[in-house]
Amino acid sequence: MRKDVRILLVGEPKVGKTSLIMSLVSEEFPDEVPLRAEEITIPADVTPERVPTHIVDYSGKFRSHTPHLSLLEANVICIVYSVNNKKSIEKVSSSALMVPLILVGNKSDLVEHSSMETILPIMNQYSEIETCVECSAKNLKNISELFYYAQKAVLHPTGPLYCPEEKE
Ligand code: GTP
Ligand code: MG
Repeated sequence: MRKDVRILLVGEPKVGKTSLIMSLVSEEFPDEVPLRAEEITIPADVTPERVPTHIVDYSGKFRSHTPHLSLLEANVICIVYSVNNKKSIEKVSSSALMVPLILVGNKSDLVEHSSMETILPIMNQYSEIETCVECSAKNLKNISELFYYAQKAVLHPTGPLYCPEEKE
């Protein structure tokens, strides 16, 4: 059994990474957020899978070929994009890593249409993408689900298990 789970949130600027974390923690949408949330640890007994879960706000440009210490330590990476910003979706496809990925379409409160049509081809292309979810930090839609999916991706992976040693 795993000791803990480390979830990293990455994505283009202003897609709502920090807001998602704050919304999860306080169960309300913060009107103002710092640039970056402090690392938080959710105690085992309040997580669905009963595993202490660390959530890290990785602000700054994310590039898969510039391994950063916190990237390497992550067990699962949530790539956040904003459903009302096509450019932030396109950037998703340039990410490939050795841990399970979750595609997170934030700000679903701002659009009527789902971004799934755009996201599906990307999902099909990258086997390390475990799942995708559309959510809203603002109206708290799918926030706890998102972190549950991330936990589950680590504890019960369904995709091909990546073996870091086998990758160059
Ligand atoms: P950087 O740290 O600068 O990369 O940004 P970030 O990805 O952490 O985004 P942040 O949480 O700072 O949010 C950026 C803006 O989007 C803020 O004005 C938030 O209030 C807004 N925002 C975040 N989530 C949502 C959402 O679900 N819906 C709406 N309507 N706005 C949101
Ligand atoms: Mg931020």
